[in-house]
Parts: sequence; structure tokens; C-alpha cells
Amino acid sequence: MSVKREHWGSRLGFIMATAGSAVGLGNIWKFPYMAGDNGGAAFIIIYLALVFTIGLSVLLAEIMIGRASQSDAVNAFKKLGPSGFSIVGYMGIAAAFMILSFYSVVAGWTIAYIVKFASGSFVGMDAASLGGAFGAFISNPVQPIIYEAIFVAMTVFVVLGGIANGIERAGKILMPILFLILIALVVRAVTLPGAEKGLEFFLAPDFSKLTGSSVMAALGQAFFSLSLGMGAILTYGSYLGKDANIGKSAWQVAFLDTSVAILAGLAIFPAVFAFNMDPGAGPGLTFVTLPAVFDAMPGGLIFGTLFFVLLTIAALTSSISLLEPLVAFFSTKGFSRAQVTMTSGFLAFLLGIPCSMAMGDWGEFKIFGKNFFDLMDFLSSNLILPIGGFLIAIFVGWVITPRALQEVSGTGEPGLLAKLWIFILRFIAPIAIAAILINGLR
Ligand code: PHE
Repeated sequence: MSVKREHWGSRLGFIMATAGSAVGLGNIWKFPYMAGDNGGAAFIIIYLALVFTIGLSVLLAEIMIGRASQSDAVNAFKKLGPSGFSIVGYMGIAAAFMILSFYSVVAGWTIAYIVKFASGSFVGMDAASLGGAFGAFISNPVQPIIYEAIFVAMTVFVVLGGIANGIERAGKILMPILFLILIALVVRAVTLPGAEKGLEFFLAPDFSKLTGSSVMAALGQAFFSLSLGMGAILTYGSYLGKDANIGKSAWQVAFLDTSVAILAGLAIFPAVFAFNMDPGAGPGLTFVTLPAVFDAMPGGLIFGTLFFVLLTIAALTSSISLLEPLVAFFSTKGFSRAQVTMTSGFLAFLLGIPCSMAMGDWGEFKIFGKNFFDLMDFLSSNLILPIGGFLIAIFVGWVITPRALQEVSGTGEPGLLAKLWIFILRFIAPIAIAAILINGLR
């Protein structure tokens, strides 16, 4: 028996949902501090070049595979080509659970910080005491797990609604709110006295800080940020109809994702410099340095609360795109959407518990020298995503090329851009990805 596949209500709905997947903690929490650490604008230039060549090509490849097969990430490969490529789908299932586990923990922190900010509990604290408060909170064995549970429950709630009424609706409501908040924060930051130093830090290229490993970091970040290599975008593409112009959609998603990353930097660095704080705080930038910055600025209670609302929204529209590929796959095994959504959400929540505990009591427990949180992040982001992206590039660039060209060009002759797309997938993407992989494993 085959049930009719659900589809997006509109192309705009697809764009919002897919941009929602791409725009996440990776853009707002990770990108700014990576750019800060790697020469600011120099890193941004390399990042842009990678996003709009390799990133965009793999993004379009995933949308195309989904749309052509109208299947989940495992069956899509079986339908279109040699079934061995379905390994990409199985690895994607594993990656979805792993990313969900640590992602939900960090997203739980952001919800907790909305509460803490709005209730004024950070008022009057300096960076040092905020650092202490953050450390105490994330290492607590109970509280962060409760917030993680709340975040997973929100994710499950959206996915239970299905494609058009759940995921699409969430994207159409939440993404415009996200943009409005982000723009308000940018305006606040760049109008602070002393903001110029931050703008300069973020926008004036310092090529001397750029190294081989920062180029690698930029490519890894491009993959994570565009949600590539694990079947999330493929699954979203599978809910598109035949008439959609997928080339244009891929462009728009890549553009939105990159804009948010850059705007996040413009919201953060001018404010950090205006208050003479340390821009190189790494991962703690968002949870320690920024709260101190907000505390010091006029209207900080509101802007601080808004910032963590922004992070939570960004995380939620990404986590639903991590849960949906699981739902799409397990639904083919004869279970209902409600059953698989709740079961997968619950399993991801359980896997999150050791991630959260790794920040405290279980921090000493290490596998391959990494605590559980870092292990989940490493295995998924540094291993499965690049391997998945590599295989997708090979699959489209070498194995199903005629079909791929036909999917993007419709009835017409493939144009120059379509040929360039195949060229990138055939040669550039596999070589570049193999390089990040080898570098990441060293
Ligand atoms: N793109 C998301 C981010 O930048 C993370 C993500 C990765 C989401 C893979 C789905 C799949 O935060």
C-alpha cells in the first residue's frame, strides 16, 4: 500500500523551512567566534567562496535527490542508483540522533538563559561571575536536562503536525521573527559608542591569521551550517513537487543562511568591543561574554532576552529538520508519524543526557580522549557529514548525472550553470572534502 506523500504548501514554505534548517546554532553561536579566531574578514571571504561553490552544489544535489526520488534518505539512493549508496541514508540516521543529542542540550541552555535574563538574575554581574554562573549551571546534573527535555518536546510538537501544518507553518512564523530580532540587535550593536572597533575587527581582513587549518575549518563550518551530508535537506526536498525550480531555491537558502551568519557577527562584535570585552572567548562568547555585554548596555535586559529567544528559535527550526529525516525513514517501516516522532524524540533526549552530564560529573569519562558531548559532535560533524557530502557529490557527479541534469533543467538543454554544477560535484567537491576529512582525523 502506498500513501500519497505529503507536500509543502508553497515554494516559500519550503524556502522558509529549509532556511530554518540551515540557520541555527552554527550561524549565531559558532560562526562569529570562528571568524573572530581566524582573521575576521579573511575567514569570511574564504567561507563565502566555499559556500557558493561546494556548499551550494551539494545543497542542490541533496534537494534534487529528494525531489527526484520522493523518498526518505535511505530509500532515495536505492530508488535512483546502486543501492550501496543508501549507506549515506543510514549514516544520516545515526548523525541525526547524534547531532540532536548535543544540539538539544545547548538549545536547552538557551531556553534557560531566556528565563534567567528576563527574570533579571544576571543584573549587576561581571564577566567573571557570569562565567562562574554558566559553569555551575551546565555542570548541574538536573536543571540542564529538564531544559533539554523542554526543547525536545517543542521539537516533537512541531514535527507531529506534519509537513505543511507543522514544519512549514513553524518556518513561516518563526523565520520572519528571527530576522526581525536579529536586525534589532544589529542596529543596537552598531549604534553603541565604540562600535567601530568591532566592525573593523569583523570586517577588515587580516590574511596573516589565515592558515591551512582555518580554510579546512571554513569548509567544515559551511557543511554544518547548510545542514549538508546527512539527509536533512534531502528529506525536505522529497516533499517538493515536480514543478519547483530547485536551482533558485538552493541559491536563496544559501544566501539566507550566509546573511544570518554575517548579521550575527555584526550583532555581536560591535557590542563586545564597545564594552572592551574579549572577542576571542571561543565557545563561551555567547553564554558568558555576551550576557556581560548586555548587562552593561542600556536596555540590556530586553536585548539580552531577545538574543536568547533568537538562539532558541534558530535552534528549534534546525532541530525539527534533524527529527524529520528519522520520522520519514521509520514511517516506511509501517509505524505512524505520531509513534515514530515520539519514539525518536525520546531516544534523542536519552542520548542527550550523557552529553549534558559530560559538562559535570561525567566529564572524566572519555572515549578516544573526548567526553561524550564532544564525541557526538566530532563523530557527526567531522566524520559523517563530510563522508556523506563526499558520497553525495560522487553519486550525482558520476553515477546519476543524466538524471540529475534533467531534474535541474526540466525539458530544456542543460545550461552553463548546470554543467558547472556537475563539474564541481565531480572534481572539486570530492577533492576538497577528502582534504577536510584527512585534516580532521589528524
Ligand atoms: N545547520 C544547523 C546549524 O547551523 C545544524 C544542522 C546540521 C541542522 C545538520 C540539520 C542538519 O546550526
